[in-house]
Amino acid sequence: MLEQQSHAAGRSADFKPFSSEYTRDPYPALERLRESAPLLYWDEGRCWLVSRYAMVVQLLRDPRFTTDRQAWEFASANPAHTQCPEFVAMNKNGLFSLDQAAHTRVRKLVSPSFTPRATERLRPAVQAIVDEVLSTAEAGETFDVARDFADKIPVRVIGAMLGIPVSYQDKFHHFADAVIQQLLPMLIPPGSIEANFAAIREGIAMIGEIIDDRRKNPIEGDILTSLIQAEELGDRLNKDELMALVSGLIVGGSETTVHLIGFMVLNLLRRPALMEQVKENPELMKGVLEEVLRFDNFGKLGITRYAKEDTEVEGVPIKKGQMMVLLLNSAMRDASAIDMPDAFDPSRESVTSIAFGNGAHFCLGANLARLEGQVAVGTLVARYPEMQLEGEAVFGPHPLIRKLDSLKVRLGPPR
Ligand code: HEM
Repeated sequence: MLEQQSHAAGRSADFKPFSSEYTRDPYPALERLRESAPLLYWDEGRCWLVSRYAMVVQLLRDPRFTTDRQAWEFASANPAHTQCPEFVAMNKNGLFSLDQAAHTRVRKLVSPSFTPRATERLRPAVQAIVDEVLSTAEAGETFDVARDFADKIPVRVIGAMLGIPVSYQDKFHHFADAVIQQLLPMLIPPGSIEANFAAIREGIAMIGEIIDDRRKNPIEGDILTSLIQAEELGDRLNKDELMALVSGLIVGGSETTVHLIGFMVLNLLRRPALMEQVKENPELMKGVLEEVLRFDNFGKLGITRYAKEDTEVEGVPIKKGQMMVLLLNSAMRDASAIDMPDAFDPSRESVTSIAFGNGAHFCLGANLARLEGQVAVGTLVARYPEMQLEGEAVFGPHPLIRKLDSLKVRLGPPR
């Protein structure tokens, strides 16, 4: 029975995910939560925090909870002026919002475009993008892995995947940033709402144009064309569903993968012995990628679920509409589920990773993220084997991510 712990006085106020200390190293705070209040109502965030592995996995798969943000008790109480109405309308059809049968139907139609084999076909394009970004960046005097490298790759990869011209990239970026800000509207600086809405509206218009154009001009072997034509037993995605899907790919696939790349480089540079092993045996990069997501996850909070009915979790009453924040970063450091969780060990075989979620909403882009991380960091390390960290990593403010603002390195001579 966790009821007493869940209301532990003062604990809620102690949780400070927006502090710079937490951004640099959230693990001591997460350990305190796991040990003393594994299911805690966090007043400031107006949500429950779930920090232990078993409970997180259970809730990821629990049909009493939905991913649909509109089910949140405060969704409609949020002042309308903080939520872009066009985005709310579009997002109703998105994978992140759909539940049960409606979700299964769309997943069935889109999943064939994201299998390991389908994703592998993008390898030459990903390699070309990484080579191009690297050749532009290395001409500069300093090399900032976060800004000049990691930040430039995922948006281009999604552009290549969907056959979208490079000239749209800035709009992509603004759109994705603005949508992420909408998730925590209370953090949007006063006076910035208009700019936030404008970026979202521009992004939605861009997505509509791209889909209309591709419908008229299909491209052989192209993923967007295959999504437009995807058909199962006579069923197809309609325009609203396609718009929401493309939006979900842009938002879900950009900043996440930027940080995967940045955190991989950071964790390698902090471990010179491991860096040497990776140079000797590039195959190890796969294990490094998985272990970075587990050991040093860039997520600040976690993923959300909303109670569809009044219910209880381990004896604690949860009211209809309450938000549960599942702290994946904490769960993946839980010693009751993971052997020696505080050791960075890329050779782990039985990692019960939930970095890409678990169950019906498992990340659609996991194969692509893995491909990008391996190609980007593999290429950087192979080309600059003497690369060294220059100073400290700099973290910046962000509502959801431990944002790596700058990671300066000395590249050394190219190989
Ligand atoms: C390191 C990179 C990434 C991480 C850590 C990550 C993590 C996640 C997680 C944890 C979920 C589950 C959300 C939930 O259960 O509520 C998810 C879902 C999703 N991700 Fe990713 N993701 C990454 C990269 C990508 C990429 C590259 C794409 C697209 C190209 C993408 C697209 C999506 C989509 C569309 C969903 C929703 C799936 C559904 O609801 O059925 N993600 N991701």
